[in-house]
Amino acid sequence: MTKRILVTGVGGAPGFDLVRSLQRLGCKVLAVDSDPHAPGLLLPEVTAHVVPPASDAAYRAGMLRLCAKARPDAVLSTVEQELPRLLGLRRPLADLGVTTWLPPREAVTACGDKAGFAAVLAEHGVPTPRTVLPEDLDRAPDGLLVVKPRHGQGGKGVTMCRTREQARVLCELTMAPIVQEHVHGREFTADCLIDRTGRASVILRYRLLVKGGLAVVSRTFNDPDAAACVRATLAATGVTGACCVQGFIRDDADGRSRVVITEANVRVGGGFPASVAAGADYIGQYLRGLFRQDVDHGRLAYKPDVTLTKYVETLTTSEGKTR
Ligand SMILES: Nc1ncnc2c1ncn2[C@@H]1O[C@H](COP(=O)(O)OP(=O)(O)O)[C@@H](O)[C@H]1O
Ligand SMILES: [Mg+2]
Repeated sequence: MTKRILVTGVGGAPGFDLVRSLQRLGCKVLAVDSDPHAPGLLLPEVTAHVVPPASDAAYRAGMLRLCAKARPDAVLSTVEQELPRLLGLRRPLADLGVTTWLPPREAVTACGDKAGFAAVLAEHGVPTPRTVLPEDLDRAPDGLLVVKPRHGQGGKGVTMCRTREQARVLCELTMAPIVQEHVHGREFTADCLIDRTGRASVILRYRLLVKGGLAVVSRTFNDPDAAACVRATLAATGVTGACCVQGFIRDDADGRSRVVITEANVRVGGGFPASVAAGADYIGQYLRGLFRQDVDHGRLAYKPDVTLTKYVETLTTSEGKTR
């Protein structure tokens, strides 16, 4: 039977590409965003809906009203800030027959806050860049530093500096900042699918060219150390479903861990089509897990050295002020 899936966050690459992948797998998609100008609302064949942003008090009623009317089989979110709200909607959505696949609240909290994430990883012995809050700046490592918002996304507000004094100024200019050791190396993302028994598949890809926080050129690779660190991250945070974990393989480990993990996003990653091109049935198996069927991890195997190049192009043009 054709599944009807509501996808939130279709203004960003993860949501946009998720809609297309679901359509290719035969699903009908309800494309949702809080911004009426979100490009994914204009994708062919979708039913488009605008809902209040997750930060808005009207979000809950708006989502429930939409789901009660449209009755999708499931909701898939690509908006991390929305996850705490969706956790609170799980029961009423289930009452409407709408399936969700959300990790426990602790996992959402750990992944939604870069300071908390660094602490959880350090506690579990997973290598992560040294991270301090502004009040502990005296304990920041020497050398190049990164200042970034602890709840940031898409690379927004990430700055670099050389001294603690500079970091202090940048902290004043950054919303809820953290200060982190700067890592030199090859950046990677792991597209992960963790089934309901906790078994995970991990697909590694280098982020060869990043624009606006999105890996526009990705290349799949194998690296047992990196895969092990990603698996340890998944276990430490307790995340389930689709998740993308980011990290670096250091150019010069110099006695330190060769692999470091910087963040985990509880959603599909913007470059996941690279993993699909490399042979992994990533969205197909995500759908199976969503509807409580066994995830076939054998179908998440992938070839290394498959390269994906994304580009911003014109989706459509129109006349008049319809939006
Ligand atoms: N500690 C770090 N060392 C080097 N580069 C970093 C570091 N932290 C962040 N960056 C760079 O900034 C980008 C965005 O940071 P990230 O922690 O992934 O936050 P988000 O993607 O949520 O905005 C990363 O993809 C990376 O290129
Ligand atoms: Mg990131």
